Amino acid sequence: MSSENILARRAFLGASASILLQGQSSPVASQAADSKSNHMIVHSRKPEDLEMPIEGFLQSITPTEMFYVRSHHYTPQVDLDTYSLRVSGEVGTPLALSLKELKKLPRVELVGVMECAGNGRAFYTPRMPGLQWTHGGVGNARWAGVRLADLLKKANIKSSAKHIMFDGADQPIGTMPKFQRSIPVKKALEGDTMLAYDMNGVGLSSSHGAPLRVVVPGWGGDCWVKWLTGIQVLDREFEGFFMKTGYRHPGKGVPPGSAVDPAQMKPVESIHVKSVIATPKDNLVMAQGASRIAGAAWSGDVPLAKVEVSTDAGRTWAPARLTSSNGRWGWQTWDFAWNATPGSYKVMAKATDANGYSQPAEQEWNPSGYMWNVIQTVRVEVMPMTSASYRSSCLGCHNDDLMKGQKLTRGQWEKEVEKMMRWGAQVPAEQKASLVDYLSARFKP
Ligand code: HEC
Repeated sequence: MSSENILARRAFLGASASILLQGQSSPVASQAADSKSNHMIVHSRKPEDLEMPIEGFLQSITPTEMFYVRSHHYTPQVDLDTYSLRVSGEVGTPLALSLKELKKLPRVELVGVMECAGNGRAFYTPRMPGLQWTHGGVGNARWAGVRLADLLKKANIKSSAKHIMFDGADQPIGTMPKFQRSIPVKKALEGDTMLAYDMNGVGLSSSHGAPLRVVVPGWGGDCWVKWLTGIQVLDREFEGFFMKTGYRHPGKGVPPGSAVDPAQMKPVESIHVKSVIATPKDNLVMAQGASRIAGAAWSGDVPLAKVEVSTDAGRTWAPARLTSSNGRWGWQTWDFAWNATPGSYKVMAKATDANGYSQPAEQEWNPSGYMWNVIQTVRVEVMPMTSASYRSSCLGCHNDDLMKGQKLTRGQWEKEVEKMMRWGAQVPAEQKASLVDYLSARFKP
């Protein structure tokens, strides 16, 4: 094939893939989508806010380049030569440690899911200002660093300590308040709360908080402060904007569109049990037969217990198989084998935590659009094999109407299909004869 032909072929395939993705999907189309999986959904370049595409929920560990990024301020470049982590406030021994000194504390490692409190905000009605995350404001990485408890012990934390405040090297933009958060001392002293310098086996990237970020397993990403330079031990909850006004939740549903005084709300802490369906994609048209429903599920302070799948709009549920071993704080990928017969389906996945709390069928509303965790529904059209292969092989470059005008014999359809295959139509060899049968039955003289 000449290079010109290859280019033309690519252009054809590209065009058909993008058309197919708008609903008339097929195995060809989903492969095309997978190869695009490193393309993040960009909410903002500056400050940097990037969402993981839906394919990410098929991965047991989220590759760093696919991991969502949320930044309130511009990304700082921290100079390691002058870097120090200061620990001050209600401590007997204030500290200032270089990264090298910090790394002398015992190294600990865990797989942990981090989810933005606002993940799913785009699905709320009425809409709220804020990043319009769909599903992918969440990721699951392997974190390594030191226990926050070890550092606090080294600083001789006093009994007056109530909250631990985290401060980063990032600087506020304009006159906005600085992004600083505090967590209760109880959570800070739990053995799994850590300060991470590695993510997925290598040093943190600047987008993810180099050289050091807080890891608060089970809690919203708002506590996982990046570019950490300061820890202040306080005798009360921190009083900055992002504690007393931002990241607060009424703790119950309120009437949609209503305002709630921040003083009546509590800081966002544990994330909620949730599952996301990565495949099939919403509005997929697929061929009948053996197929797979799969995604990821996680929970916060209360561990994940199970994931169930429904293919009949929630009337009946069957258990999905959990397929990763990511430990207490990671997400679990899950899988469900489905023998799809022709028809229209509402596919759902529902996760339940160890207290028996399951994802709700209807979402309660809250003023900032936090903690979206309603059961997700994916609409799928399952076609008989022939008409499905007709759609995926023939309706990528042009519509049905071109066919309707043709009144051809079987022999003529066979030639037509072969011509289109030369022009780039993808027809699996074992489906060619049945496709010709289908065409000559539907569009005959
Ligand atoms: C890679 C793109 C592409 C795919 C996929 C494709 N076609 Fe076409 N097809 C074309 C183009 C381009 C034309 C229009 C040619 C023209 O008008 O000169 C066409 C025209 C036709 C015509 C009109 C008669 C003709 O030969 O010009 C028929 C019938 C047809 N296609 C059938 C099919 C069938 C059946 C399939 C599935 C096996 C298919 N096409 C898949 C590109 C495609």
